[in-house]
Amino acid sequence: MEQGHAEVHEVDYVAPLGEGAGKTERYLELRRYVLALTEGEPDWLANLANVAAAVYDHVPRVNWAGFYLMKGGELVLGPFQGRPACVRIAVGRGVCGTAVAERRTQVVPDVHAFPGHIACDDRSRSEIVVPIVVGGEVVGVLDIDSPDVGTFDIEDRRALETIVADIVPRVDWAAATRS
Ligand code: SME
Repeated sequence: MEQGHAEVHEVDYVAPLGEGAGKTERYLELRRYVLALTEGEPDWLANLANVAAAVYDHVPRVNWAGFYLMKGGELVLGPFQGRPACVRIAVGRGVCGTAVAERRTQVVPDVHAFPGHIACDDRSRSEIVVPIVVGGEVVGVLDIDSPDVGTFDIEDRRALETIVADIVPRVDWAAATRS
């Protein structure tokens, strides 16, 4: 076996807070967890996979959480947790493509009322999509779906935008967006 990467990147599992916890506490814990999971790890796929898993595990009432990455001018499915999903989404299409086109987080309280919403999982009723912008370019999105109407609000938006900003310097986006 090749020597060199002797350092083992192990972070103890952090369970989501219990029923009584509020959103603020939950997101603080999730943010700390994401920072610990990605600290010093150069592998973009490992980092995005662990972030998708931590978000899916820690944000309540979620049936899908993951990344789409910009490749060859369209969004292509990246690491996620949940049911298998649509692979390619054109810029401007659906909630994800709209977040890219507008370079703005989309909070959709009821996906049935969002024109052009792409139903990958018919259990999804509300959705939040945060664009990932690096050096002025959109490199992908973080997409989270909930089976309940109105799950996400301004607090989710702020917290998830902060988490996305935290991981931007910890991912090799050139590698992650290579088609
Ligand atoms: N609903 C998204 C498609 C992706 S899935 O939710 C995983 C959209 O409208 O862009």
